[in-house]
Amino acid sequence: MPEATPLEARYQECRRRFREVGQEHVLHFWKELDAARRAELLEDLARIDLAQLPAQARLAVTDQPPNLDLSRLSPVKVIRREQAGPEALARGRLLLAAGKVAAFTVAGGQGTRLGFDGPKGAFCISPVRNKPLFQLFAESVLATSRRYGREIPWYIMTSPANDAATREFFDRHRHFGLDPRSVTFFQQGVMPAFDRQGKILLDQKHRVALSPNGHGGSLLALAQTGMLADLRQRGIDYISYFQVDNPLVYALDPVFIGLHDLRRSEMSSKSLPKADDLERVGNFVMLDGRLMVIEYSDMPETLARAHNPDGSRKYDAGSIAIHILSRDFVERLTADPAAFALPWHRAVKKVPYVDLATGQRIEPAEPNAVKLESFVFDALPLAENPIVVETSRAEEFSPVKNATGVDSVETTRRDLVRRAARWLESVGFRVPRRDDGEPDALLEISPLLALDAHQLAERRLKPDTIARGEKRYFE
Ligand code: UTP
Repeated sequence: MPEATPLEARYQECRRRFREVGQEHVLHFWKELDAARRAELLEDLARIDLAQLPAQARLAVTDQPPNLDLSRLSPVKVIRREQAGPEALARGRLLLAAGKVAAFTVAGGQGTRLGFDGPKGAFCISPVRNKPLFQLFAESVLATSRRYGREIPWYIMTSPANDAATREFFDRHRHFGLDPRSVTFFQQGVMPAFDRQGKILLDQKHRVALSPNGHGGSLLALAQTGMLADLRQRGIDYISYFQVDNPLVYALDPVFIGLHDLRRSEMSSKSLPKADDLERVGNFVMLDGRLMVIEYSDMPETLARAHNPDGSRKYDAGSIAIHILSRDFVERLTADPAAFALPWHRAVKKVPYVDLATGQRIEPAEPNAVKLESFVFDALPLAENPIVVETSRAEEFSPVKNATGVDSVETTRRDLVRRAARWLESVGFRVPRRDDGEPDALLEISPLLALDAHQLAERRLKPDTIARGEKRYFE
């Protein structure tokens, strides 16, 4: 017998382990693959958590609607940001100046709906300068660092599919003026797509159909990639979490940070009053006294439509995926990574796959696969003293999800212009408006000039009249 090559030995071991969990077919085409492809396949397979795989495969085949006992639910009491008071602001400022806070962007998603070829953060969005999303966040972090005289580290979670492109984008743009040592990228985990029988799908003969395991994967990824240790070493206590697709976000909001600290919260969230009963955002609710979010798709319609006697909506707090996480909370949750798991959410999707019998790659016309993802808000019930802070939609929320229509490039640009117009008017500028009230100009305020209307007022710009149809950039 010739001695087994290392690759052959890895193959044998891998085959044994996947056979044990009934997924041996992932190596079906092994004999047809050259050495490079074999190595790639083994690399994909190494990303799969075999201990959890059988339970995940079972979950993939069972469509279990969430079992909610409505009688145990009650609305959540929110704190209105506007009414937070000067103490919260002062505390937040103190923490920023003391270097206790890091910015954290989850950017590992696939951005399928936007259909942009590249990391979503590289998508150009600002109305006049056409700055990419990442640049707006970078400038917010830089502006905050300058304001508080303290370099603020920024962590960016990518996924295997967009990690290299994201790093390359930052390199090419010289990190948008940030010190590269203050920007840290790390990758989240992935999850295989399953067919309706709970079998892992192959994307190619040598590639598993893997996709990022949801933004909930950020917590374990922070632990497993050494980021928690890095945060600790830098003396960071609080992580300001936001998504890559909302350029209006206050990336490092002193009021929110201050409230989180004053209330001894382990995980805090921002909310908005819902635009309508069925708005497609998660709903903050209390279940037996613990805070949680119910996805819009899981929220029973009767509950979503429930109103109080005074006409107000009963469950009105919509989740906008902006959080503060205490570092020690994430440390506590992930201390034993094998014991930590957030619930998996199923999504039935169209996933191209290689047919095992014919070796052909099939582009399904109908949804054929189950993807499992975890969501970061599912950590809320595990947190002590979580708070929900209600903010303003016009100021802080307009995500780019789609190329057109709702939450699209167009609506986000519009909302950036509207906000700029409001801020400028608040400091005495005259902004032309159309009959429908929309600003009749393209306006953009650099985050390096001001991060909110108060900061713009501090700049003491000479008020001016904007011409109809004018494009103006304020820096
Ligand atoms: P979305 O749920 O909107 O998903 O992510 P997406 O991947 O960006 O877009 P679609 O659904 O494919 O069109 C919300 C935020 O969570 C991040 C995304 O990058 C975005 O900032 N995210 C999502 C991750 O970081 N990892 C994931 O696995 C999923």
